[in-house]
Amino acid sequence: MLRIAVCVSGGGTNLQAIIDAIAEGSISNAQIVKVISNKAGAYALERAKAAGIEAEAVTRADHPDKADFNAALLKAVDLAEADLVVLAGFLVVLDKAMIRKYSGRIINIHPSLIPSFCGAGMYGLKVHEAALARGVKVTGATVHFVDEGTDTGPIIMQKAVYVEESDTPEVLQKRVMEQAEWKILPAVIDGIANGRIPLQRGE
Ligand code: GAR
Repeated sequence: MLRIAVCVSGGGTNLQAIIDAIAEGSISNAQIVKVISNKAGAYALERAKAAGIEAEAVTRADHPDKADFNAALLKAVDLAEADLVVLAGFLVVLDKAMIRKYSGRIINIHPSLIPSFCGAGMYGLKVHEAALARGVKVTGATVHFVDEGTDTGPIIMQKAVYVEESDTPEVLQKRVMEQAEWKILPAVIDGIANGRIPLQRGE
């Protein structure tokens, strides 16, 4: 049984997609053992609690010192004894110690077709604003392994989504979530849990 820790910052719709996929069996051989948020008020924490999953906030408010925050985050992940760490809308740049320790075992969902509209400062609605500003006709989402760069790790799965003339960033964000993110993130986790997508061991 694959033990998963999910890191979140906001609404947690991707977390919910994982919870639902496990409940309905489209993800098998996996369980979420812990949800960790860097925002105390994140609705994702409520989703975790409603599903009976341990939920913990590790915040900069509680750990104003960056090194102290990084150590607390690493400790929270370590205590979960997770095989896989899923960044599901986690808007924190991971510290190198965490990336090295969990190398090959951290995946991230990004709301564009990497290498478009990714990298430092490109997250959430900003990604869709940039896609509309550039006038692309196709966008999508990417699940990738996390390495020491920002959105630079090996790509595992992508799904394309059409942009429509009347799209606002919000409308496009919703379509990318519904048609791509909430499908490929659970699909990748099921692939990992059932040995079709290999994980690597970190340090
Ligand atoms: C999702 O669209 C996710 O792809 C994005 O944040 C949103 C979180 O939504 N992540 C990034 O932009 C990471 N660079 P959610 O909390 O409802 O899952």
